[in-house]
Amino acid sequence: ELDSSLRPKSLNEYIGQEKVKNNLEIFIEAAKGRGEALDHVLLYGPPGLGKTTLANIIAEEMGVNIKITSGPAIERPGDLAAILTNLNPNDVLFIDEIHRLNRMVEEVLYPAMEDFALDIIIGDGPSARSVRLDLAQFTLVGATTKAGQLTSPLRDRFGVISRLKLYSTEELQQIVYRSARVLNVKIDDAGALELAKRSRGTPRIANRLLKRVRDYAQVRADGVITEEVAKAGLEMLEVDELGLDDIDRKMLQTLINKFGGGPVGLNTLSAAVGEEEATIEDVYEPYLLQIGYLQRTPRGRVATKLAYEHLDLDYKEE
Ligand code: ADE
Repeated sequence: ELDSSLRPKSLNEYIGQEKVKNNLEIFIEAAKGRGEALDHVLLYGPPGLGKTTLANIIAEEMGVNIKITSGPAIERPGDLAAILTNLNPNDVLFIDEIHRLNRMVEEVLYPAMEDFALDIIIGDGPSARSVRLDLAQFTLVGATTKAGQLTSPLRDRFGVISRLKLYSTEELQQIVYRSARVLNVKIDDAGALELAKRSRGTPRIANRLLKRVRDYAQVRADGVITEEVAKAGLEMLEVDELGLDDIDRKMLQTLINKFGGGPVGLNTLSAAVGEEEATIEDVYEPYLLQIGYLQRTPRGRVATKLAYEHLDLDYKEE
């Protein structure tokens, strides 16, 4: 898939997240200098910001292999034991959606992270005993959209905890240029800026919009993504000037038209819009909160004046 070719392979190529990048650069160089595994790293933040990409880069920069899995994929302790016993010294184990590991699996992970050891129970009943098996040193890179849902014993075992932030328009514009170069698409400054502005702070969205607008440019224009071509292509995709799509708009419209602008609880909003609570929380809300269209209050979600204005609806001051 072309997606993987759009992913930067080194920290130098990686645009944005400067703080996270600078810290990792130092920790990686130090661990390499000592010939040790990098400390365990927890990456958290909204989807599409590059957590998987960073995990791959960490392995690449450390010069080790990476094994990629996810919380829900590791069903039993034995599944995790099989993975851990197959790692080479200093390898990276990437567990996406790490908040979804089950309790039994998590408990195997604690001594593995802390002491690079597996505690195996042999037999059962009164004759059962525990045998400790040594593992190679490894780096666990965990990714989650909700750090709050991690149990504290798990969170406490990460030496590096990094929060990824939504990207600025300028950073997204750089990413669009880079991706256009990789995809061999011609794009001008204004075209790249237009895509960046409508990508909701998220590289994954920027790259997706770039590919779709490339199609539009190829079929309906001369293949070059100018501001005009970008605008026409994005209109066809029903992505508005702020990058809101039909679901974002439906959420705000429902909040305003059915619930008087809120406050309304997440479960109620979820039922009314027909999207899962987790999707609303992880995918849609972060950007709406960031641009100030939505507020979270103790009593629920509230649409702000900006949201009314964007949707051309009358806002009544209290
Ligand atoms: N593609 C996706 N995310 C990127 C990033 N942060 N830097 C460069 N290219 C990317």
